[in-house]
Amino acid sequence: MSLKILGAGKAHPSFSLSNSILSGMVDTSDQWISTRTGIRRRFINTTETLLDICMAAATAAMEISGVKPRDLDLIICPTIQGDNIIPALSCEIQRELGASCPAFDINAACTGFVYALDVAKSYFDAGRANYMLIVAADQMSKFINWQDRETCVLFGDGAGAVVLAKGSNLKAIKITAKGDSSLLAIPGSTGNSPFWQGGSPPSYLHMKGKEVFKFAVNSMCRDITDVLEEVGMDIGDVAKVIPHQANIRIIQSAAEKLGLRDDQLVTGVDRYGNTSSASIPILLGELLESGELKEGDIVVLSAFGGGLTSGACIMEI
Ligand code: ACO
Repeated sequence: MSLKILGAGKAHPSFSLSNSILSGMVDTSDQWISTRTGIRRRFINTTETLLDICMAAATAAMEISGVKPRDLDLIICPTIQGDNIIPALSCEIQRELGASCPAFDINAACTGFVYALDVAKSYFDAGRANYMLIVAADQMSKFINWQDRETCVLFGDGAGAVVLAKGSNLKAIKITAKGDSSLLAIPGSTGNSPFWQGGSPPSYLHMKGKEVFKFAVNSMCRDITDVLEEVGMDIGDVAKVIPHQANIRIIQSAAEKLGLRDDQLVTGVDRYGNTSSASIPILLGELLESGELKEGDIVVLSAFGGGLTSGACIMEI
């Protein structure tokens, strides 16, 4: 049974944070950031909430799809954390849209969108849904130590949404997890329990960049090869590959190993930085809006992130 995309939307905050502004905040430079990561700017929430950004992306996707909020059977938000711990971001979107379906968030970090597609597939396959909305959104600006030059230059805030219906367009999908908090983690708040004796590490992202880099390239190459093999396709049959946007050097390194042509590779890390779960649907939305992706095109999505998680899928537009 599987699924197909009826509409996509994307949104980002209004404030654009350039490398040169960052260079006045920490000991870095536009030259270092752009050559080592490919990032030139990112958008950061200042007055907007994550829900505001989600609603802009979701409303656009709903309008294009023609699906009414009352017809949605499920809303899934891949996110590390919404504006609140409770209610879930997905429940707040449900309320704002005026929908009445169940709604839940999932946390697979930057792989969240691929994880959500896997869950959506299962709902369609089980006959439990006709229409679904996925809104992948993250505001990494809230979890970064803005004095740490090794991480604060990498991330941005944003949201990407898709409306899905039953269909046969998802050809293969794979998700993985390898529990590991040593390479990449954001410790949770320990709260204010008077009984807790375990200390309270700051809730900032910390990362072993080089190890994450290797994990990213290896998992992307393995996952993309696996899903292609599953459907008997060659990388040359693919119109576009949309990888998670963390670092242009990760993308280029995986592309080279996979034998991708330049025209197949989609990148946006220069304009958005790493928007975590939103990075793939933001670019998917852009390509559908511009007409660069057309009906019948084969697209590969590939992501990796904290957890450690990874995943890839092949979809016909
Ligand atoms: N500006 C200037 N210098 C810097 C900066 C900066 N912003 N950051 C690090 N440096 C310095 C380091 O201190 C180091 O200096 P030294 O040689 O004097 O010790 C030097 O630059 C080289 O640092 P490296 O860490 O070796 O740089 P590298 O080329 O590995 O790039 C980076 C670091 C960009 C973090 C890279 O390793 C990377 O992209 N890793 C993957 C990150 C990633 O994908 N994260 C997302 C995970 S997804 C999720 O779920 C959140």
